Amino acid sequence: MTSAADWIDLSGKVAHVTGGGKGIGKGISTALAMAGAKVMVSDINLQSAQETADEIEGSAMALDVADRDAVDAALNNTVSALGALDILVNNAGLYIGYGGPVEGITDEMWKALWSVNVDGVFYCCRAAATIMKAQGKGGRIINIASTQAMTPGVGVTYDGSKAAVTMMTKALALELAPHGINVNALAPGPTWVNHGEPPPIDAQMPARSGDPLADTVADRISRLPAGHWGDPMEQGKAAVFLASEMSSFVTGIYLPCDGGWLTL
Ligand SMILES: NC(=O)c1ccc[n+]([C@@H]2O[C@H](COP(=O)([O-])OP(=O)(O)OC[C@H]3O[C@@H](n4cnc5c(N)ncnc54)[C@H](O)[C@@H]3O)[C@@H](O)[C@H]2O)c1
Repeated sequence: MTSAADWIDLSGKVAHVTGGGKGIGKGISTALAMAGAKVMVSDINLQSAQETADEIEGSAMALDVADRDAVDAALNNTVSALGALDILVNNAGLYIGYGGPVEGITDEMWKALWSVNVDGVFYCCRAAATIMKAQGKGGRIINIASTQAMTPGVGVTYDGSKAAVTMMTKALALELAPHGINVNALAPGPTWVNHGEPPPIDAQMPARSGDPLADTVADRISRLPAGHWGDPMEQGKAAVFLASEMSSFVTGIYLPCDGGWLTL
């Protein structure tokens, strides 16, 4: 009889994780490697990608996901180097802080964030879908969204970008399901990505400011049902679920991994 453990075994699978040099991307890269996948870690910062790859016996490359041509080359180079592309995790993302009045958001700020969080996800999905369809053996695309796709608090630029990623995920799931390519969004809640001291529940929070956006986030974190920040490896565990046979009939979902944030 097949063991349930076989369902999370990613041996023989090749994964590419963008923005895998640190934070959640590093946690996801590590978890996928622990499940047996060969992992290509990419990051705009090659040194950090290489450090993650060295720790997990994976491979590394430099990639700015906002660069369309570089994305096409990087995903094809993953196939050249590791033999296939079975799993893509679109993790690279920019975050520009809490709230802030809309009139202070410049065109440059808007475009800089959307070029990574939205354009970058689109470029990577397009390149991966092309490769996976040609391979003819299905695949998994995991887009890192955020609880901010459902609950505002970080401002129109970031929150809007993650809502866009969530609907792009559903649209692609519908389109790619006949090819056996499952496309899902993983939505982290507050996840502590600063190394060093364990975070207090309200770490990184601005003082109550009267700004309804920032205060919404601060209030939710102070009442987070789990009582602590998430760890990048907790996002990694959820990513292994979405990358593995465990989720064979799961596509088009938005999976919060948030310590209960969205129950509040
Ligand atoms: N940490 C959280 O609480 C949290 C919550 C919800 C969603 N997220 C999402 O999770 C993802 C990872 O966030 P994180 O907190 O680990 O951030 P992080 O800043 O710790 O790490 C992001 C990584 O992406 C890389 N990167 C930045 N721009 C890039 C680009 N243009 N091309 C390629 N790589 C690039 C960085 O070098 C870095 O290694 C993001 O999409 C973020 O929006 C994070």
